[in-house]
Amino acid sequence: MAKAPAPSAPPRHVAIVMDGNGRWAKRRFMPRIAGHRQGVESLRRCIRACAERGVQVLTVFAFSSENWSRPEEEVSGLMDLLGKALAREVPELRQSGIRLQFVGDRAALSERLRRDLAQAEGQTADNTRMVLNVCLNYGGRWDIAQAAARLAAAGEPITEASLSGAMALAHVPDPDLLIRTGGERRISNFLLWQCAYSELVFSDRLWPDFDEAALDEALADFAARERRFGQTSEQVVRAAAH
Ligand code: IPE
Ligand code: IPE
Ligand code: MG
Repeated sequence: MAKAPAPSAPPRHVAIVMDGNGRWAKRRFMPRIAGHRQGVESLRRCIRACAERGVQVLTVFAFSSENWSRPEEEVSGLMDLLGKALAREVPELRQSGIRLQFVGDRAALSERLRRDLAQAEGQTADNTRMVLNVCLNYGGRWDIAQAAARLAAAGEPITEASLSGAMALAHVPDPDLLIRTGGERRISNFLLWQCAYSELVFSDRLWPDFDEAALDEALADFAARERRFGQTSEQVVRAAAH
């Protein structure tokens, strides 16, 4: 496949539903966890590529609130993989200027994992090159509900602005581009509030196969879109000329 040219202005915030690990493994007659392990490698490559292309925020969906309903063995395998990946990858993330942030409901995670997450965040807290949000036990509905509950508990009015400020991704702008790999055309309870105006790109590549060329293809697709935010095309063109 020909490599798509890198667009001149990269999206500030890229969000990714990293789907297709299980099918990747199944095609190779391997256990699903082998697909997740390969998925970690694909994520490493994607983090590096996004940072090199000037993306400021990368948000990835690693484990959804609904993924608890998978077989016990897969869930514990995923949690184990996460702990190991953290221990291995944090020094490099730290060195390459990436600030790691975990997003989601931590209450259901083991105490040990919670401690590891907090430690990894602390070790990369001063980095400014790119923010990497890893959504773990995350659900878009959970996020909206927890934001509303916090505002209500504080007796604050519930408005679009106050809700935005109480959401789990309040520390970054909304995603410009949302990519889903693995061929499905659905959001699966990812960033429901924040993707109101994100450009959606669906890739048929399974996540472990989502390489730099596939990323560049998604970025080129994004660069060719006209984002109107409710305005007319003429208004957008006029504003861009000024
Ligand atoms: C995405 O890959 C990773 C997680 C949900 C943890 P899947 O495990 O959903 O892979 P498929 O969709 O079964 O191929
Ligand atoms: C979405 O993938 C969640 C993650 C990638 C972490 P799923 O594989 O869980 O989504 P569905 O079940 O196909 O909608
Ligand atoms: Mg899936």
